[in-house]
Amino acid sequence: MKRITFLLVAVATLAGVVAFTAPTSRRAAAQEAAPVFGINIPPGYRDWGMISVAHVGGNLNDLRVKLGNDVAIKAYREGKLPFPDGTIIARLAWRQVTSEENNIVLHRTLERGGLSSEQTTKLLAESFVAGPATNVQFMVKDSRKYASTGGWGFAQFTNGKPDGEAAHNTCFSCHAPARDRDFVFTRYAP
Ligand code: HEC
Repeated sequence: MKRITFLLVAVATLAGVVAFTAPTSRRAAAQEAAPVFGINIPPGYRDWGMISVAHVGGNLNDLRVKLGNDVAIKAYREGKLPFPDGTIIARLAWRQVTSEENNIVLHRTLERGGLSSEQTTKLLAESFVAGPATNVQFMVKDSRKYASTGGWGFAQFTNGKPDGEAAHNTCFSCHAPARDRDFVFTRYAP
């Protein structure tokens, strides 16, 4: 009997914890949705399949990768256009930085290969790896919900927090030139 009472208390406590935390986590999730399109960071996106990579110079000076959920990757591989509802494409970006660690090793190898120290230093100054993350962008396909923006919802997050409304109002118009490819610029890297 004592044991049963203990179990009942344990179950009641657990239920209480669940009841207490559920609304809080729902509230937290709602707070983090990007404005205009109401998109949250899709869970697990960091593990999605790779579509392609790119580098943008100038002030951005970043390295970026495009990832897609299963629906996106399948559509890409089958050359399906327009992308089906449920497609999500992510664009991750990092400031490009030099890697001392890598360069020490490469320096030795290049010099051994016959390059002068000066040539080697110059070459390695243009060798980069991903540094701190800049921001992450998403395009979410829902042809009914986002009918007025080509069927795509757009979202941008910096350090896990959504960026403002002004930034989100620029997305669709800038993607308009890619209309023939369903507003998506990135091609699948062979
Ligand atoms: C200045 C024009 C411009 C603006 C503004 C812009 N984009 Fe893009 N976007 C591009 C171009 C060009 C590419 C392809 C090259 C690259 O990755 O930068 C791209 C790529 C993307 C991709 C990868 C899929 C694709 O189309 O290649 C996503 C996701 C994305 N943008 C989301 C957004 C979001 C979200 C916003 C608004 C917060 C936004 N973009 C604003 C021009 C723009």
